[in-house]
Amino acid sequence: MSTDRTEDFFEKIITVKLSGERDCVDIIDQTLLPGEIKRISLYTKEEIWEAIKKLRVRGAPAIGVCAAIGLAVLSNGIETDDFEEFYSQFKEIKEYLASSRPTAVNLFWALNRMEKKALELKNDSIPVIREKLFEEALAIQAEDIKISRNIGEYGFSLMKELKKEGKELGILTHCNAGTLATAKYGTALAPIYTALEHGWPGTDLHVYCDETRPLLQGARLTAFELSEAGVTTTLQCDNMASMLMKQGKIDIIFVGTDRVAANGDVANKIGTSAVAILAAYYHIPFYVCAPGSTLDFDTPSGKEIPIEMRDPSEVAELWYRERMAPKEIDIFNPAFDVTDHELVTGIITERGIVTKPYEMTLPGLFKKI
Ligand code: MRU
Repeated sequence: MSTDRTEDFFEKIITVKLSGERDCVDIIDQTLLPGEIKRISLYTKEEIWEAIKKLRVRGAPAIGVCAAIGLAVLSNGIETDDFEEFYSQFKEIKEYLASSRPTAVNLFWALNRMEKKALELKNDSIPVIREKLFEEALAIQAEDIKISRNIGEYGFSLMKELKKEGKELGILTHCNAGTLATAKYGTALAPIYTALEHGWPGTDLHVYCDETRPLLQGARLTAFELSEAGVTTTLQCDNMASMLMKQGKIDIIFVGTDRVAANGDVANKIGTSAVAILAAYYHIPFYVCAPGSTLDFDTPSGKEIPIEMRDPSEVAELWYRERMAPKEIDIFNPAFDVTDHELVTGIITERGIVTKPYEMTLPGLFKKI
């Protein structure tokens, strides 16, 4: 954001694009990072579904953008002049894409927004509907960039309050809620990129990235993004965060989220709730960066948020040359956990920062009372 180097890097790592020919979704295959920045083309609904499921594209807002662009591309291929026939095939594709991952509400939010647009246009011709669906998907993507910028500014205002002259500001983050997880800039990393844009040298900041077992989004993606952007970055295993906090190295914590329930409970990458509990113990402010598309007013509390359970091999085999657990052992592998709203210092949205009681403050900001 601040330097040519950073801007070039952002261009290189734009996670999701509509292809020039508008015949596929063009994504970075995040399973190959940081070793290789490779773009792949997703033409079919099965390829899009697989890319979301396997985390080739991941992070709540990026999943939403990918699904919206994918639905526009696939709608373009529905060959009929009859709206009822078009809508029935559209709906089938939409529901199939929605079945890829259950926790990030942005996926359903983006797909529902596309459906609403199709229904609004039911009296138009199919070619017009196809065109408007492309426009809607690209609007979702463009809005996500603006939302991240706003979250960045609000988060940066907190950083300015905490920064002490001559001392680097220590920030801890978990998983990856950066450019790779959104249309651009990220949510939890947006305040950091905003600081660079406002002229803070990368050395005024020190970001501690939790490795984020078992899929290593912190090590493979966050540490990669931030170090490339010129920010002082340290990587630690998840179970080392407590020691950093005890040593006074962490001034503030920013994390992203996959879904915020109406009472302010927050689903995010597994391990986030442990970070929040430690933060409360050490009196470190714990902020969740959440675009409006992640707020789920229809889900009363974290208890009702569906948590994705993933393949045991991710824990016992994925990164190892040979299996690192007994063959028959039972393995618990939830992809997300829920942080109790009591532990959340504040939720940073594109419209401002809210604090408790979230069941009042969140709808107040998003006009849902
Ligand atoms: O399983 P992932 O990698 O999709 O999980 C991602 C996270 O938990 C992120 O923190 C969240 O989606 C917010 S991304 C801005």
